[in-house]
Amino acid sequence: MARISKFLPFLWSLFAGLLLLSTAHAEQAPSATPPAKIETHNEVFANKHPDQFNSWKATSEQSEREDALADDPNMVILWAGYPFSRDYNKPRGHAYALTDVRETLRTGAPKTAEDGPLPMACWSCKSPDVARLIQQEGEAGYFHGKWARGGPEIVNNLGCADCHNTASEDFAKGKPALTLSRPYAARAMETIGKPFDKASRLDQQAMVCGQCHVEYYFDGKNKQVKFPWDNGPNVDGMEKYYDDIAFSDWVNPLSKTPMLKAQHPEYETWSAGIHGKNNVTCIDCHMPKLQNAEGKMFTSHKIGNPFDTFDQTCKNCHTQTKEALQSVVAERKAAIQDLKRKVEVQLVHAHFEAKAALDAGATDEEMKPIQTDIRHAQWRWDLAIASHGVHMHAPDEALRMLGTALNKAADARAKLIRLLATKGITQEVQLPDISTKEKAQAAIGLDMQKINAEKQDFLKTVVPQWDEQARKNGLLGTEGK
Ligand code: HEC
Ligand code: HEC
Ligand code: HEC
Ligand code: HEC
Repeated sequence: MARISKFLPFLWSLFAGLLLLSTAHAEQAPSATPPAKIETHNEVFANKHPDQFNSWKATSEQSEREDALADDPNMVILWAGYPFSRDYNKPRGHAYALTDVRETLRTGAPKTAEDGPLPMACWSCKSPDVARLIQQEGEAGYFHGKWARGGPEIVNNLGCADCHNTASEDFAKGKPALTLSRPYAARAMETIGKPFDKASRLDQQAMVCGQCHVEYYFDGKNKQVKFPWDNGPNVDGMEKYYDDIAFSDWVNPLSKTPMLKAQHPEYETWSAGIHGKNNVTCIDCHMPKLQNAEGKMFTSHKIGNPFDTFDQTCKNCHTQTKEALQSVVAERKAAIQDLKRKVEVQLVHAHFEAKAALDAGATDEEMKPIQTDIRHAQWRWDLAIASHGVHMHAPDEALRMLGTALNKAADARAKLIRLLATKGITQEVQLPDISTKEKAQAAIGLDMQKINAEKQDFLKTVVPQWDEQARKNGLLGTEGK
């Protein structure tokens, strides 16, 4: 950083003439190194950048919560033994990132800083306080310990310093000064040959979103975030990566399969789709340029559904009507949803059939090839559907992933039928009633009443203490909560 800032004046004078003509990317000196001071209090920028600030704040209007498990109880079975079987909501506005990670049943109800179940890494895509802590304590310092340790530290909402070098002069002047505030994201981009500092303005735009909207896992003893991109950021490359290091997120207790949980690989699926290939970035669709009351153009930070601002997004490049394009997207969504359900039915059966085989005394050796098929099938299913908006970003890629998932699930079941026969089981293995979320959760032995009660207690007693402590330490801003 020091080195880069020393060169800044030099670069400025060198390019001063060119600057008049060029676009903003020549003006910035974007850096993958976190900026000198990470300003986590978003409200500090309210006066200086009111249009960006107010539109950012307006993501709180996207408050609707959608329960994905109630919508599709099959997922409870597929994620049995993993916190996602407790609850999983579809994403909503950035303003809710912190609230939602506190409130989800997945993070449990820790009473002390040492209580589990989850590691610190689970804060990583929620707040600029993460960038601050990494800068202060290094990655090893930030990542160590349980999630609850971060409660009194990670208190400001996803905001300016997550994407901008807020300490830079460029930013003060109203230029984007985009940055990767997460060093692990900067390293991953280098792995795929896209060092941030050398990237074009468009590439940088997508990369800032790619700090969080990606597939990642928790690596090593310290459980640090890493993107599994060493063999390429695609479904096969990531699968091979995980297999080579024998990584699993958890073991499904029904089939005893070491499983992979996909996160939200929007960056990867977008890259694989037609818009990504044409370098139409997340910003072109999700952060349109709008006019403020004085007629000045600014980038809208109300990141939401691009169809809500159709005239400033799709219409910039397409001649079709909003209705025509929406119906194309809706058709693709329906096709993906249909195949998704088909894969789930196969996988649900496979998990229960594998359980029946294990109960009948199947050996590890007999189960291994079946469990490998289940692992790969579910990984492919999960990666496709965990990528929100995939029906828009890369519908062909989603269908391809789901198609291979269906094949692998069918392979597992064909092997299971033969194996079950050798154990004298020739009848179809019956499924429990999993027709609703509640029934599916009961079927895998979750005591939801207890889990919910503990969570309520946690939210009433522990969370206010976190905020109190943060306030005392001067960490808590006044906006964006
Ligand atoms: C999720 C990432 C993200 C967050 C959070 C974010 N910005 Fe931005 N911001 C961007 C992107 C992307 C651009 C457009 C970059 C470009 O045009 O190349 C931008 C542009 C800007 C610009 C340049 C002027 C303009 O309108 O294009 C300013 C100033 C700015 N943001 C201020 C803020 C402030 C203040 C906050 C916090 C309240 C904030 N941003 C939060 C990603 C973000
Ligand atoms: C620091 C991490 C982080 C960054 C950077 C980030 N996001 Fe997000 N994004 C999230 C999280 C977390 C959520 C889910 C919030 C929730 O549901 O509580 C989310 C939600 C969203 C949603 C859903 C909004 C809705 O109303 O349904 C969209 C769209 C989105 N992000 C797009 C983007 C784009 C485009 C960028 C880059 C400009 C970006 N995000 C950068 C973490 C991030
Ligand atoms: C060509 C336009 C376009 C581009 C480029 C694009 N998106 Fe989207 N995205 C959309 C549309 C449209 C939707 C909503 C689809 C729908 O209506 O169901 C969406 C949906 C999403 C969602 C899900 C929102 C929700 O509530 O379910 C997320 C998250 C998201 N996009 C993030 C990104 C990120 C991150 C990038 C870049 C890596 C990106 N998008 C690139 C158009 C785009
Ligand atoms: C910055 C320009 C740009 C924006 C904004 C944009 N697109 Fe595109 N779109 C493209 C380009 C370029 C292609 C590829 C055209 C080709 O290769 O024939 C494309 C292709 C498409 C296709 C046809 C390819 C396919 O997937 O079958 C659809 C449908 C589409 N876009 C929908 C949308 C929607 C919906 C939005 C808004 C949410 C949007 N686009 C926003 C530039 C854009």
